[in-house]
Amino acid sequence: MKAENNCIVIFGASGDLTHRKLIPALYNLYKIGRLSENFSVLGVARTELSNEEFREKMRSALIEHEKADGDELNNFCSHLYYQAVNTSDAADYVKLIPRLDELHDKYKTCGNTLYYLSTPPSLYGVIPECLAAHGLNTEEFGWKRIIVEKPFGYDMKTAKELDVQIHRFFDEHQIYRIDHYLGKETVQNLLVLRFSNGLFEPLWNRNYIDYIEITGAEELGVEQRGGYYDGSGAMRDMFQNHLLQVLAMVAMEPPAIINADSMRDEVAKVLYCLHPLEPNDLQHNLVLGQYAATQLNDERVKGYLEEKGVPPDSNTETYMALRCKIDNWRWAGVPFYVRTGKRLAARVTEVVIHFKKTPHPVFSQEAPENKLILRIQPDEGISMRFGLKKPGAGFEAKEVSMDFRYSDLNGASLLTAYERLLLDAMKGDATLFARTDAVHACWKFVQPILDYKANGGRVYEYEAGSWGPVEADKLIAQHGRVWRKPS
Ligand code: BG6
Repeated sequence: MKAENNCIVIFGASGDLTHRKLIPALYNLYKIGRLSENFSVLGVARTELSNEEFREKMRSALIEHEKADGDELNNFCSHLYYQAVNTSDAADYVKLIPRLDELHDKYKTCGNTLYYLSTPPSLYGVIPECLAAHGLNTEEFGWKRIIVEKPFGYDMKTAKELDVQIHRFFDEHQIYRIDHYLGKETVQNLLVLRFSNGLFEPLWNRNYIDYIEITGAEELGVEQRGGYYDGSGAMRDMFQNHLLQVLAMVAMEPPAIINADSMRDEVAKVLYCLHPLEPNDLQHNLVLGQYAATQLNDERVKGYLEEKGVPPDSNTETYMALRCKIDNWRWAGVPFYVRTGKRLAARVTEVVIHFKKTPHPVFSQEAPENKLILRIQPDEGISMRFGLKKPGAGFEAKEVSMDFRYSDLNGASLLTAYERLLLDAMKGDATLFARTDAVHACWKFVQPILDYKANGGRVYEYEAGSWGPVEADKLIAQHGRVWRKPS
């Protein structure tokens, strides 16, 4: 289904996200015919640029990131426009009125407008207010939607304040809080795997599952984003949003139907069931780490403290591992081990469901573990591991695997996360966007962890290219388990 005619206004149009993700996503949607011919993009930022200069910049980005060329590229770029606005000055937003009138008229959009806030978070509360000062939030002529990038708040208090501020000018049905993990095909596949297969459903609970591992590992360090990252850390950058959303997909109850309300009701419910962690629990169940300078093969890899924009005495965590629990009927007693970090041994995001052993050992040798590995990226797919008899004498068991790879689905063209989410927002489908109650539930759970860290929670060093601090191995070993080391 195509998106309705609309005008997309990108605030922060000169920023990295616009070049690297948003414009490429829109270009790809255009190429595959998912955007109506009557779409337009109005880039907004402080820098003075003409339409032509903005188009040139976007054209270069598309050539670099998407290898775009030819008529398709030229036609796409002819839909791009630009307006310089001092985004913190409400009076300056008056400049948007004639520009939007002209675009709505030219592209017959009926006034439908999608605002995308790809700006520093300090403007997330300011822009809605400035738009409202000129009536640009009202739905009298066409819908008005606003996409807000993460981080949605800095902690529980600021997240609530931000919500109050945005809700003064936009209703909840107009607000789309983007978490790009929810746009990933394989994260959505978790729901299809769970809720469309009678095979897994009966096993998906405390009776058959021993524990669950969720890993979001990255090989790269903080790159050019040291300034932003230092105020954020792994907890706010990956855990509070992306990984808790993945956890919710693994643990939520089935919604009665898939629509924005019933899906998000279940997500919020399960997130509110996360067992609150006291400082005492955190001592045994949390490990924080920071990557140190490391000689890796022939290369010296910089430590976090040497990264541009990072203060030399920073104790921001670039790694965290946590053991948590969900206090509800389905998951009582099942630990969830969640870890994420930069400069780890591999780039991989996966969920591993470890099933319980058989009740009685029939064979002398212990059988291999039964696990289901859900690979979110890269090599998206699913692998089921179990034991079978090793050919020959005796009854020795050997681990075998049944694998499915997304790449084997011939002709399947996967939309990237930003393509999927932008399209959904244009269609008015908020199912894969975080609702305010879920965001609060995540902050409620994370706040005591932030407080623990602020009150002196230790941050351990780890080597680049490793699987994190050795203390994380001890965390899971307390219960006789080991982290999987995916390759
Ligand atoms: C972003 C974080 O939200 O997600 C980055 O700010 C992180 O630090 C990125 O690298 C990971 O996303 P992906 O899609 O590459 O796993």
